[in-house]
Amino acid sequence: MPSVGFIGAGTVGTALAVSLSGRGYQLAAVASKTHASAAALAARIQPPPPVCDAQGAVDRCELVFLTTPDDLIGPVANSLAWHAGQAVVHCSGAASTDVLEAARAAGAAVGAFHPLQTFASVNEAIENLPGSAFAIEADGPLLTILEQMARDLSGTPIRLGPGDKTIYHTAAVLVSNYTVALMAAATELWGQFGVTTPDATQSLLPLLQGTINNIRKIGLPGCLTGPIARGDLGTVEKHLEALEARAPELLGIYCELGLRAVPVALAKGKIDTNQARALEKALADHLHTSSQVSTRGLNRTEAN
Ligand SMILES: NC(=O)c1ccc[n+]([C@@H]2O[C@H](COP(=O)([O-])OP(=O)(O)OC[C@H]3O[C@@H](n4cnc5c(N)ncnc54)[C@H](OP(=O)(O)O)[C@@H]3O)[C@@H](O)[C@H]2O)c1
Repeated sequence: MPSVGFIGAGTVGTALAVSLSGRGYQLAAVASKTHASAAALAARIQPPPPVCDAQGAVDRCELVFLTTPDDLIGPVANSLAWHAGQAVVHCSGAASTDVLEAARAAGAAVGAFHPLQTFASVNEAIENLPGSAFAIEADGPLLTILEQMARDLSGTPIRLGPGDKTIYHTAAVLVSNYTVALMAAATELWGQFGVTTPDATQSLLPLLQGTINNIRKIGLPGCLTGPIARGDLGTVEKHLEALEARAPELLGIYCELGLRAVPVALAKGKIDTNQARALEKALADHLHTSSQVSTRGLNRTEAN
């Protein structure tokens, strides 16, 4: 196991450092923008690793994690003197390893190790890290080390090649952030019959949780339920009419996601191709209407 250091003692840096230390990795140095953050991280580890400046961490450690905000990974890496025989890794889901070019040019191995998880706080991050997937970009011995590290954290390593990062991260945004956007849209609809956003969220959450449980236990495509899975065209048409009348701004996403649900329903085997075509036609027709509605809305905004 290489000696590990962290530059950037925020949520991810602290959670990874504490978790790796708990799995037997030796923490050799911690640095951050402020001494207070680095000292707070160090105090969570037994024995506490030395707190030093960023160059001190580079000089002391075989494997350095750069856990600063994304925009600072490149500038911080560029400001440090790296050497052959060590490795530097960032945890961004969006940046490629190109931002570590200065370290690569100095002979260090470079990589990325992105925990596919959402971390609002350090304690939550420590709790949620086990079981997460870790997207890894690296070559040679560093790839082996990072894959083993993911398994040591009770996670699943996912290998990414050059050019895969953005599409990988787009999928993460779809499943995580856009679920939040869908919850916001659903609570807005409930507002039409007088339920507040917090109450609507509380009432819709068990449904979301049940859906997640179904995805986990049954998997795709069997986990899909609802009118599209049953081929209930009449119900879908009622939804489309209601949205057209009362929330036309949501017609587009309802139709787009409905069109994505039809092949899942077909694969589940509960609807036949005729039902699938009829559902697709209703959804596509209203999608066309919705684009006219949003173009009219855009024209109005521009006119204002
Ligand atoms: N949060 C998530 O859900 C999540 C999930 C997966 C991956 N990530 C990735 O993990 C990385 C870190 O994110 P985070 O959420 O942990 O961010 P964060 O909580 O904002 O922590 C960033 C840390 O970087 C430190 N820092 C800022 N400028 C610095 C500099 N010039 N030199 C050294 N340290 C500096 C800050 O130090 P001070 O506290 O000392 O000011 C701060 O503690 C990012 O690449 C992010 O994309 C985040």
